[in-house]
Amino acid sequence: MVEIKNLKKMYGERKVLDIDYLKLEKGESLAVMGANGSGKSTLLKILAGIIRQTEGSFSTEGTTLYAPQNPYAFSGTVLENMLIGAKGQKEKAADLLERFNLIELKEKKASSLSGGELQRLSICRLFMRSCSLLLLDEPTSACDKESTLTLTDEINKYKAEQGCTLIISTHSMQLASDTAEKIITLNNGIPE
Ligand SMILES: Nc1ncnc2c1ncn2[C@@H]1O[C@H](COP(=O)(O)OP(=O)(O)O)[C@@H](O)[C@H]1O
Ligand SMILES: [Mg+2]
Repeated sequence: MVEIKNLKKMYGERKVLDIDYLKLEKGESLAVMGANGSGKSTLLKILAGIIRQTEGSFSTEGTTLYAPQNPYAFSGTVLENMLIGAKGQKEKAADLLERFNLIELKEKKASSLSGGELQRLSICRLFMRSCSLLLLDEPTSACDKESTLTLTDEINKYKAEQGCTLIISTHSMQLASDTAEKIITLNNGIPE
């Protein structure tokens, strides 16, 4: 569940986010669309607790997992990345790596992955954990067609298994309609 009330973010005099009211029930999914600079990442960062809103409030329930727009690698191999905070879960890690088409790369240094591979790893690594709110910021922006289909599938599977609420930002109408039942478009931080 997510409930947003009168949420605003200002940078100096400039308002970059302004959402009057938005509620998602447990298990509901929302795609956030909009041009570059329209406030998508700002919304997700606020909900993830990375930055603080200037005004207003929001509430969530349970654990939130967040994949930022710029995926990052921890030091070590792909497999070691998967096992951070999840030692002893090698089987689960291998299963997820298989599903994300990353199993052949498991002994590779995570820092040497391509943009698309790293993007897949960052979501794959997140899915080692459970959550009740999943925040994905442009999760397929560096992915080719095939990787996008894989990610779409895995996001939907994870969502069904967890029964979590999903907020996904994207420029792809296809990804939005494939993963979310609700779509909003931000225009200068305001839902259209
Ligand atoms: N730390 C910051 N300081 C000043 N302006 C910022 C900062 N972070 C983001 N912005 C501005 O806020 C607006 C919304 O940014 P963002 O949420 O990243 O947009 P989107 O993710 O939709 O591309 C942009 O105009 C951006 O330049
Ligand atoms: Mg963004």
